[in-house]
Amino acid sequence: MSVATALSEAPSPDWVVDQGWAAYDAADHQVWVTLYERQKHLLPGRACDAYLRGLESLDLHRGGIPDFARINPELQRLTGWSVVAVPGLVPDEVFFKHLANRRFPAGRFIRRPDQLDYLSEPDIFHDVFGHVPMLTDPVFADYMQAYGEGGLRAGRLEQLHHLARLYWYTVEFGLMETPKGLRIYGAGIVSSKAESVFALEDPSPNRLGFNLERLMRTPYRIDDFQQTYFVIPSLEALRESTLQDFGPIYARLAGAPDIQIEDVLPTDRVFTRGTQAYARAQDAARAPAGKI
Ligand code: PHE
Ligand code: CO
Repeated sequence: MSVATALSEAPSPDWVVDQGWAAYDAADHQVWVTLYERQKHLLPGRACDAYLRGLESLDLHRGGIPDFARINPELQRLTGWSVVAVPGLVPDEVFFKHLANRRFPAGRFIRRPDQLDYLSEPDIFHDVFGHVPMLTDPVFADYMQAYGEGGLRAGRLEQLHHLARLYWYTVEFGLMETPKGLRIYGAGIVSSKAESVFALEDPSPNRLGFNLERLMRTPYRIDDFQQTYFVIPSLEALRESTLQDFGPIYARLAGAPDIQIEDVLPTDRVFTRGTQAYARAQDAARAPAGKI
């Protein structure tokens, strides 16, 4: 980023910037269309109904990268949420304040054509295609607002490391039990071609019933497919279990050790006991490089 750009983007207190939709070029829009088409074929029968309904009602594919000004009126009408553009990752408190006010901060840049499969920072495809459809669901919309309020509180209580795991294992990598089988609702999964399949079909990861306190004791990986996914019974159940006061939970967590990322406990409800074959192969492949 040039100095001139950096200066013109000196953050306002809420870090919101103009999306600058007119500045996307044809190659940027093509990246969106390519990613959209890949996921469109994969997600029916894999993503949950709330997600698929949201994707339809926002009509996210029309003309490539969506203009927030076009999708916001419908999102507002459905749940009172809106999407705002930010330059990239924002400080925790800024992020939580937006959520608490029913604004989802989204990156406005899009990955390059050679980064279709993996990117370490969330781009507009992850943020908008991945997150925004779920925000059209009234129950999930309430959960996300509550999460923002809970984040502000957890920050004051120095409990963000525990609360962040809830975001990770639900909003980003959550699975849901439905009469038709397990379905995806996590944004990190629906926005990834490979993980959309891996999360549901690969024998490697554990798939365990959602248990709030257990989940908050479980670390996660940010650099590869998850080793454990947590399965909620429904969005209502997720909202219900997070309505309680987390104060006593945080107090108990202070004295409770972390659970190993791949462990299955006798108290877990087990949908899949993973072989962890994928994770082990990846670790083995990484090991020699680590010794350099
Ligand atoms: N109930 C939580 C608390 O007391 C707040 C919260 C709600 C956190 C929903 C996450 C999701 O802190
Ligand atoms: Co995300």
